[in-house]
Amino acid sequence: MKCILTENIDLSKKKILLRLDLNVPIQDKNITELSRIKKIIPTINYLIQKKSKIILISHIGRPKGKIMPDLSLAPVCKKLSEMLGVNVLLIKDQINEKLVDKINSTNANSIIMLENIRFNEGEEKNDNEFAKKLSNLGEIYINDAFSCSHRSHASIDAITKYIPSYFGIQIKEEISALKKITSTFKKPVSCILGGSKISTKIKIISNLIKKFDNIIIVGGMANTILKEKGTNIGKSINEQGCNKIVSEIFENSKKYNCKLLYPSDVIVSKNTYSAGTNKLLDEIENDDVILDIGKNTISSIKSTISNSNTILWNGPAGYFENPFFENGTKEIAKIIAEKTQDNTFSVIGGGDTVAAINKFNLINSFSFVSTAGGAFLEYLEGKNLPGITAIN
Ligand code: 3PG
Repeated sequence: MKCILTENIDLSKKKILLRLDLNVPIQDKNITELSRIKKIIPTINYLIQKKSKIILISHIGRPKGKIMPDLSLAPVCKKLSEMLGVNVLLIKDQINEKLVDKINSTNANSIIMLENIRFNEGEEKNDNEFAKKLSNLGEIYINDAFSCSHRSHASIDAITKYIPSYFGIQIKEEISALKKITSTFKKPVSCILGGSKISTKIKIISNLIKKFDNIIIVGGMANTILKEKGTNIGKSINEQGCNKIVSEIFENSKKYNCKLLYPSDVIVSKNTYSAGTNKLLDEIENDDVILDIGKNTISSIKSTISNSNTILWNGPAGYFENPFFENGTKEIAKIIAEKTQDNTFSVIGGGDTVAAINKFNLINSFSFVSTAGGAFLEYLEGKNLPGITAIN
C-alpha cells in the first residue's frame, strides 16, 4: 500500500490535502460520538510534526450538491481544534483559483478545513473538472478515510488522477486488520445487519449470503423485508421497490444454505416520548412505528450468536439513541461481548454501531471495531473499493 509512513516522500512544508471521514452524528450543533475524530488525530499530528500545511476535506450527511447550513462542518471544526490544541480554520469559499491564493496566505500554523465537500455538485458525480480544481489546492493528496472509500466521489477517486496520492496511517491500519481478519474466519459465521441506510445495504445481503452461515436482519432493513413478505409495518421506515431484491435474498439463502433470521416480533409506538409495546407481526396497526426488535426476536438472535464462531455486526436494531428503544441493540451488543470473552471472534463496524457500543460502555469488548459501515460491508463482499483502487 502506498502509505505516507512507508513511502519515501517529503511532506515537509508541503500543502497536504487530507481526505477524512468526519461524518459524525450531530444533535443541536453538538457532536454526540467522537470515534471518527479521535481515530484520525495521529495522522494529523504526524503531519504537524512534519511541518506540512494541512488542508482537511470531509463530507457530513447527504446534502446532494446543495449548501445546507445544518450540514456545515463548523461544529466538527471547533471540536477538532479543541482536541488538537491547534487553530482549525473553516473555509467556506468556492473551490477555485482564488481559494489557492487564500490558502497560500493563511498562517502556516493553522490547519485549514474546507466546508462540507458534498455542498459541491461535482463531488458525488466524481466530476473530473471539480476534482482537478480541488487537487490544485495542494501538492500531495492523502486518503485516510476508509469508511467512505466505497464511494466513487471526486475527493476520493477522481482527484487521484491529478496529484501524487497516498494512503494515510488510519486507512492502512484498518485495511491490514480487515485483511487479516477475513482470511482467518472460523465457521459458523453470523452477520447481523441493521441500521437505517437501507438502500446501500440491502443490495449487499445477497452476496453476503454466499459467504456466511447466518444472516440476521434487523433495523430499517428488516422493515423492508417484512413489508415485502406481506406484513403491515404501519408508518415504519422502509425502502420502496425492493420486491426483486428481497426475492433474490430468499432464493439465495436456500441456494447457499444460509439461514436468514428477521424479526418475528417488534417494539412499536405511536410516539417517541414513551415506552413502546411488544407486538407480534399480525398485531401491528396502521399508525404504529417499529422502533426496536421484540423479546422473541432477541431470544432467537441470542441462540444463533451462541452457536457462532465468528460474528460480524453492522447497524443497530432500533432507535437506540432513545432509551425507550435501545433494548434490542443493547442485548445484541451484550451477547456478542460475552461471546468474545469466550474466544469467539467479533468484528463491529459502522458509525451508528460504534456510537451504540460506546453508549453501552462496551467499546473495548470486541475483537475489532471499525468506524466504517458501508465500506466495511463492501470489503466483506470482496468488492474493490474505488478509493483504494484509485491509489493502488
Ligand atoms: C458513512 O458514514 O458510512 C460514510 O461517511 C459514508 O457516508 P454515505 O453513506 O453518506 O456515503
